Amino acid sequence: MTDRSKGGARVPASAKPAGDDLVASRRRFLTGGLAAAGGLAAAAGAARAAGDPAITELPDWTVYPGDGVDAAPYGMPSEFESHVVRRDVPWLTADPVSSVNFTPLHELDGIITPNGLCFERHHGGAAQVDPAEYRLMINGLVEKELVFTLEDLKRFPRENRVYFLECAANSGMEWRGAQLNGCQFTHGMIHNVMYTGVPLRLLLEEAGVKPNGKWILPEGADASGMTRSIPMEKAMDDCLVAFKMNGEALRPEQGYPVRLCVPGWEGNMWVKWMRRIEVGDQPWHHREETSKYTDLMDNGKARRFTWEMDAKSVITNPSPQAPITHGKGPTVITGVAWSGRGTIPRVDVTIDGGKNWYKARMSGPSLDKSMHRFYFEFDWDGTPLLLQSRAHDSTGYVQPTKEELRAVRGVNSIYHNNGIQTWYVNENGDAENVEIS
Ligand code: MTE
Ligand code: CO
Repeated sequence: MTDRSKGGARVPASAKPAGDDLVASRRRFLTGGLAAAGGLAAAAGAARAAGDPAITELPDWTVYPGDGVDAAPYGMPSEFESHVVRRDVPWLTADPVSSVNFTPLHELDGIITPNGLCFERHHGGAAQVDPAEYRLMINGLVEKELVFTLEDLKRFPRENRVYFLECAANSGMEWRGAQLNGCQFTHGMIHNVMYTGVPLRLLLEEAGVKPNGKWILPEGADASGMTRSIPMEKAMDDCLVAFKMNGEALRPEQGYPVRLCVPGWEGNMWVKWMRRIEVGDQPWHHREETSKYTDLMDNGKARRFTWEMDAKSVITNPSPQAPITHGKGPTVITGVAWSGRGTIPRVDVTIDGGKNWYKARMSGPSLDKSMHRFYFEFDWDGTPLLLQSRAHDSTGYVQPTKEELRAVRGVNSIYHNNGIQTWYVNENGDAENVEIS
């Protein structure tokens, strides 16, 4: 409480004006508001304790012993968390075998996505691969064509790295206007996981890439194959051949037993169930399936080779699936930001549709090509809000507005929509996906 009543001690971290001095008076308001809110929250807490049955009655779990160990050899979340699940949008695709579901971003915190909540995107269903029969072949323009078993792969030096994977189509339904009501659906084609794997470079060096080997074509063992052309420079740089996610084996739906990680680049290149890597002297873009991720522009031309994911952010709470339910007073805004080109040193937040911007407080590890977590604490006076967040990445790039994006790219594309998201929050705390110009 002491810190809050001083106000100044608490406010600078979260409510610093973003880059200029336009919010001096607003800042004083926030300072005063937070001090008052601290006192109110304490009073409300004391009053509640007096007649609260959750304090005065003994619940069963206090009286009787609970389950012993081994009730669940593989632990599951609390039954009270059963609403925290991946969800799909039924009208989006014709068949679940070639479809997508979405990470419940509004239910998560920190930067790591739990394995069971990582969104899934399959083009031919999820292959169930027996690890004993798993093989990875490297062929094409190499000195020695090689075949590895899973055990062979685990004899190479391995690395642990945290990366986001974002589908190029994330937010793709929002190009023409606000459409889906929830950050799970507008932004949930992303997950952020610690991978354990062997640098692809080590395997390619083992095979010996010939001087004219300039591209690789990784191929999946699933019904879609999902071959993708990747330049040798990227393959030799930071790609990982991963077999663990968040410490345990990859989940079947994420490519068990082995997937390719292509850090910072669009998700479709992260080939799951990877069984073969062909080395070639040119891309395989003439093959329909390796060239379809292009961005159609207004003039009928298409952008190609747009592999790097631009910096992006979204406020996850509050949001349409996660309204403010506590009424006015101290309120925490939080969200995630990421960039395919580095780290996120800064995120700005506005609560009034961009009239005033504040620097959000970053918390948690700031890792290359990984999700970052931001917070903005303020005292809500109960009036409607227009919430937005704006990411800055370590190259100096600033996340554009949707209007700025459309001015350059038109609205024909599905892919690479990294425009600023707006949530409208009404007096009751309910949030809605909107756009403001
Ligand atoms: N790899 C294979 N073999 N088959 C696929 O259908 N889908 C791609 C990519 N790798 C796919 C694949 C696409 S478009 C994306 S966005 C990511 O995998 C999704 O990875 P996830 O299912 O782990 O979220
Ligand atoms: Co994808």
